[in-house]
Amino acid sequence: MNPKPPEHADTLQTLTARANHALEQLFPAIETDDVLQDAMRYAVLGGGKRLRPLLTYAAGRAVGDDGPALDAPACAVELIHAYSLVHDDLPAMDDDDLRRGRPTCHVAYGEAMAILAGDALQALAFELLARDRQPTVSDATRVTMLRVLGTACGAQGMAGGQAVDLNATGKRLDVPALERMHALKTGALIRASVRLGALAGGCTDTRTLDALDRYAHAVGLAFQVRDDILDVEADTEALGKTAGKDAAQDKSTFPSLLGMQASRQRLRELTEEAREAVAFLGAPASLLATLARYAAERGN
Ligand code: IPE
Ligand code: IPE
Ligand code: MG
Ligand code: MG
Ligand code: MG
Repeated sequence: MNPKPPEHADTLQTLTARANHALEQLFPAIETDDVLQDAMRYAVLGGGKRLRPLLTYAAGRAVGDDGPALDAPACAVELIHAYSLVHDDLPAMDDDDLRRGRPTCHVAYGEAMAILAGDALQALAFELLARDRQPTVSDATRVTMLRVLGTACGAQGMAGGQAVDLNATGKRLDVPALERMHALKTGALIRASVRLGALAGGCTDTRTLDALDRYAHAVGLAFQVRDDILDVEADTEALGKTAGKDAAQDKSTFPSLLGMQASRQRLRELTEEAREAVAFLGAPASLLATLARYAAERGN
């Protein structure tokens, strides 16, 4: 998955399997006669790098606890992500027919079911967080986690960023506006993934939470810059989604505004910013540093 094997390769594999296992528990093991359930299952299982759950686990680890209380938030952020992809691919949005190497949810199940699957996945994320009573997580912390996730999904987060993206299509944003759009449409959920991991891991220290947030802001931006670069440079088979979509749809992206060289330079700066933000946490934060590099260097 990477140009060179990442540090922590075994840990990343174990945590990816942990996320997949936790997600599988949320859906019936086989196809049912409930088409909405099937569409939800299709959207979540069978692909995806699981970067957001990995960030949740890594944040828990950085603050000293990545125990069972991390699984519900890890699933919740992936459910929101899966919902956002289903809706992002709809004809009214990016109109894509390939996702994770398979037909998009609306191609497989029809537009109406895809819309409902997205709606229901979003609701399930909140239900899951609300119902997951853990001895190490107080009710007050659970309410905070619900609020953090709500803010990240809504008009001040992912949905707001997607609206900016659609309104900016065919127009030319300047770089600060582009960074603001990325911070919302992709960055907000990545920040929430890290924050939920820290909260579920028992962190209450403001300095640590702020540092993790600076880390996550840089990673979120880097992640979307990389996505935009891959859209230009990678092929459809490697991506598992249609390459060249951004240019075809005249989207404002880092490569289109700054060119490839400056986009790569920005990626390097962001990776360094992320690493520096959490360096004071020492060895427990090394998985976060690896994930920051992965977000910026990944090949799909
Ligand atoms: C793609 O996200 C959409 C963006 C937010 C850029 P990912 O690259 O994390 O997609 P999966 O989950 O691995 O398929
Ligand atoms: C998607 O951005 C962001 C969200 C789904 C919130 P893109 O439109 O660039 O994602 P891809 O390239 O289709 O995966
Ligand atoms: Mg889009
Ligand atoms: Mg898209
Ligand atoms: Mg993209």
